[in-house]
Amino acid sequence: LPVYVVMGFDSLHGYTQFPPPPYFGATIGRYANRIGGAKFTLDGKTYTLDKNDGANSLHGGFHGFDKVMWKAKPAVATGLQNIEFSYLSKDGEEGYPGNLTVMVSYTLTNDNDLRIHYSAIADQDTVINLTNHSYFNLSGHDAGEILDHVLTINADRFTPVDGGLIPTGELRKVEGTPFDFRQPHSVGERIGAKDEQLTLASGYDHNWILNRKGTGLEFAARVSDPKSGRVIECLTTEPAIQFYTGNFLDGSFKGKDGKPYVHRGALTLETQHYPDSPNHPDFPTTTLKAGQQFDSTTVFRFSTQQ
Ligand code: BGC
Repeated sequence: LPVYVVMGFDSLHGYTQFPPPPYFGATIGRYANRIGGAKFTLDGKTYTLDKNDGANSLHGGFHGFDKVMWKAKPAVATGLQNIEFSYLSKDGEEGYPGNLTVMVSYTLTNDNDLRIHYSAIADQDTVINLTNHSYFNLSGHDAGEILDHVLTINADRFTPVDGGLIPTGELRKVEGTPFDFRQPHSVGERIGAKDEQLTLASGYDHNWILNRKGTGLEFAARVSDPKSGRVIECLTTEPAIQFYTGNFLDGSFKGKDGKPYVHRGALTLETQHYPDSPNHPDFPTTTLKAGQQFDSTTVFRFSTQQ
């Protein structure tokens, strides 16, 4: 029998049900993670977004890229398993400016790399932050908590948040905190530590600033599961990664084979720009200028260890 290492549903209905499930396996856009106060100013104009997370906008709004129908086409020319999705997000959709044409392709290589490539172009200046919201449990989608998974994140700093999970603007060193995953630690080792940031997010749900040498594909994170020996390495061209421990899962969503998806039953590795960047001019910019090509790649490299 196959072992599913990501959470998901057996049919489309699972993804379109109400209340909406929390982005299982979804492409997130136009803006991954939160925009504080659900508004931002660009070229002197203020844009208002959906408040779908308290006072803030999360993952593109009520009807983000996870809720729309994409065109799909297999691109077999490379000889690899490959599928390409495209979508036209119209000017004003979910409050964002500009017609944005976006493409996302998934390629499974012969080395067990799942390569996700994003490209986009807009006819007006806009903001963009795209990610993939897969929930991984390397023991299996229904195997219970991921607290024994062992994690490394290639980051010296992270962005602390306020009560609404919006970055305060501080770039904080991970050193001496439960956020230091520069050496491998189990997810659960420090998740219950007395730490203001862990309390605010009910666990890990933060943006780590990746240590980078340049702009290419570089090592971001590694997760291994001592039980199954399965390993994922994550490489990306993005400057940051949201590591989230499924703190808001509570068993109410029944996924593949009708299995309940329990609290901390999976983790996400969401490569991205920093949350709320449009309201933080000192963060790496998420502005996409009219006619400029957006390009981003993330690889999930699957392997096994003894
Ligand atoms: C966010 C979480 C949110 C989750 C699912 C993550 O990217 O950081 O706060 O609950 O997505 O909605």
